[in-house]
Amino acid sequence: MTSRRPLIAGNWKMYKTCSEAEDTAREIVKNLPDMPDVEIMIAPPATALAPVFSIIRDTPVELGGQNMFWEAQGAYTGEVSGPMLVSAGCSYVIIGHSERRQYFGETDDSVNRKINAAKAAGLTPIICVGETETERDAEKTFSVLDKQMENGLESLSADSFKGVVIAYEPVWAIGTGRTATAQQAQEVHARLRKFLDKRFGGDIASQTRIVYGGSVKPENIAELMALEDIDGALVGGASLKPDTFSKIINYKR
Ligand code: 13P
Repeated sequence: MTSRRPLIAGNWKMYKTCSEAEDTAREIVKNLPDMPDVEIMIAPPATALAPVFSIIRDTPVELGGQNMFWEAQGAYTGEVSGPMLVSAGCSYVIIGHSERRQYFGETDDSVNRKINAAKAAGLTPIICVGETETERDAEKTFSVLDKQMENGLESLSADSFKGVVIAYEPVWAIGTGRTATAQQAQEVHARLRKFLDKRFGGDIASQTRIVYGGSVKPENIAELMALEDIDGALVGGASLKPDTFSKIINYKR
């Protein structure tokens, strides 16, 4: 039995206006279990963070940003900082999502800077790593992940890493309906935990939550959560509909 409290997080990506986001948050809150046995987080777009926080603030649902810049403030038009996310009610921030790497030039180096800035602001970073289909087919999955982990976590001490969440999101499984098989996911999660063991030691490795993302839905959540090294899920498409997300949160019932 692990003592890691599972985390189920909804990444709403660039969906929902403020009023749509508020409606969705209200529905999610309505269908919460009395005593959720998983930690629940939702990450609406930046414009909807504060309005959504006003709905979830007295509930067990946590709020997360989908990205942040590493400076606390300055002349960086269009960016949002860690302290700004905190002021909007966030306790989490997603960093290095593959869509940010693919479309917005995010690199392991920027991921590294953002982790440090997020920790300094008091946010819990969720660091996304994952291989593309081409990389998997070429049997480069482990070497790609090792590089993302090594460079993304460069120069972090065990103390400063503590609490960080890792999200394994195989790029080929995102938004495609193709989930990694339980065996594929478990194999990679175990490898990531081994990496953490070597890098930060056994205590950190056994405490760190490693969540899976990529076409998670009510039909496959229970099978994924049953695996030893899977400590939760980062849900995209299926988190946009409150009834589907509620089914995922309530996967044990
Ligand atoms: P989907 O659940 O839509 O595949 O997206 C996964 C994801 O990118 C979560 O961050």
